Amino acid sequence: MTDIPTTLADRFGRAISLLFDVGDNVAGAFLRPSTNEKFGDYQLNVAMSLAKSLNQNPRQIAEQITQAADVDDLCEKMEIAGPGFINVTLKADAISQQLDHIASDDRLGVRSSEHPDTVVVDYSSPNVAKQMHVGHLRSTVIGDCICRVLNFAGHKVNRQNHIGDWGTQFGMLIEYLDGAEQADAQQIGDLEAVYREAKKHFDAAPDFAERARLRVVALQANDLETREIWQRIVDQSKSHFKATYSRLGVLLADTDIRGESFYNDRLPQLVELFGSAGLLVESHGAQCIFPEGFYDRDDKPLPLIIRKSDGGFPYAATDLAALWFRIQELHADRIVYLVDTRQKQHFEMVFTALRSHPQWVKADVRLEHVMFGTVLGPDRKPFKTREGGIVKLDKLLEEAEHRAAEVIDKKNPQLSVEERTEIAHAVGIGALKYADLSSDRIKDYVFDWQRMLALNGNTAPYLQNAYVRIRSIFRKAASQDGHVGAVVQISHPAERALGIKILQLPAVIESVADSLEPHRLCTYLYDLASLFHQFYEKCPVLGCNDESLQASRLVLCDIVARTLKRGLNLLGIEVVERM
Ligand code: ARG
Repeated sequence: MTDIPTTLADRFGRAISLLFDVGDNVAGAFLRPSTNEKFGDYQLNVAMSLAKSLNQNPRQIAEQITQAADVDDLCEKMEIAGPGFINVTLKADAISQQLDHIASDDRLGVRSSEHPDTVVVDYSSPNVAKQMHVGHLRSTVIGDCICRVLNFAGHKVNRQNHIGDWGTQFGMLIEYLDGAEQADAQQIGDLEAVYREAKKHFDAAPDFAERARLRVVALQANDLETREIWQRIVDQSKSHFKATYSRLGVLLADTDIRGESFYNDRLPQLVELFGSAGLLVESHGAQCIFPEGFYDRDDKPLPLIIRKSDGGFPYAATDLAALWFRIQELHADRIVYLVDTRQKQHFEMVFTALRSHPQWVKADVRLEHVMFGTVLGPDRKPFKTREGGIVKLDKLLEEAEHRAAEVIDKKNPQLSVEERTEIAHAVGIGALKYADLSSDRIKDYVFDWQRMLALNGNTAPYLQNAYVRIRSIFRKAASQDGHVGAVVQISHPAERALGIKILQLPAVIESVADSLEPHRLCTYLYDLASLFHQFYEKCPVLGCNDESLQASRLVLCDIVARTLKRGLNLLGIEVVERM
């Protein structure tokens, strides 16, 4: 069953294309849920832009559209307002029919895409031998949500964890560990410390630095012993990443890891590929591509170096090789990168370089750098520890759970220790994720424990609590499934407002899958929960004497609970039965 907003947009679109010489998908872009019930349920504001391009009176155009559109089965009335807005009020019958369908639909009315894409999502991508920081947290949390939403929308998602497991820094790490005979897993436990020590040696002792450089060469040449130590370092880091992912509850698995090292063998071919296309220019001994449109401050063309003068391959080369691989071998239709805004120019240059290659046959691959801003501390400066160090992710997760436990204790002191621990985990991690997901990702956001853990406002605990409340209604109900199959009745404006909101889920999922902006889903869930509370205040459910109306209201409760659960799940957040 097609959802009402989509059907409406289609029908208006058809009318418009019959009346005027324009494509028939224009209406979808102009049909919006009304922001005020005075203006009906939906508003179509296409007449104004049509009027401009056709040089006609917008109200007359609106008039023609309302007459031609075949929407009588869905619309109670249409009113033309202001310069030419068409305010659409739906028929209560149409709303309740759609709700009846949603009540028995696992997917809550959201249809799977008819044109599924293969989407490669490059996210998390921390660096071996270094701590994951809050920037990686953002990438991981937002990326994970995007994977879930795309998957739910019907696309084929291929997660790629492009970890930094290659590069000259491994020379000094390996040399240091080998010299110190410390390469066993236990002693390299704190790789960060090893890294710092190795760096000290590298800077202070020229002979060590020289040996470290030779190690890089040995690593590149697949020297057995060197490779072995490298592998141990990588494995050690991977197990750290894995523990963090599991605590965070993200989808990333070992099999999603395809680090920079994977592309090492492909880099000479890459140089060849661009060289034979005449796209390489030698500059100071390095092989460079000069992507069109990039200049430095002095207006000199900016190079994308893909082979350094010492023969090494920089970050950009690996990214170009990865891009090629993802298109040719993973058959991506769309590739998205979850990396902070500081790498904006890097990705623009890599994408432009790729597009300049004549073999760029699948020109319709959608390449997107999904940027996000910085996490700020209370002082509005990049989030740091009190001592000014980088915030370690494990510590942060621990604190989230700890603070959530305090909130839960206050709210419900009767819970058992096990319950409390489980709930604190769901609420703490949920709050952390939601704070990240609910703000417009491009912007920086201020990290604020109190706000993210508040039981009121646009927070995870608020939504989790709304779910808990509905579940408790069902626990109190005489029968768990007495309402199943009941017909939804729209008897009160609060029911109507809630129903209309429920119908909007498919459009929200579609817009998140397209824009890759999770905050749109957060806002939707928050609005839904708020409307639910208004409904619950005004429309008695268990206290309702009319049996069929009570059943209808329970159906609404059930749909809202399932929508909250599904929506939170798409954000990577768990629900709990009580809190
Ligand atoms: N490892 C990089 C960092 O920590 C992020 C990699 C992002 N992905 C990519 N394909 N470049 O900054």
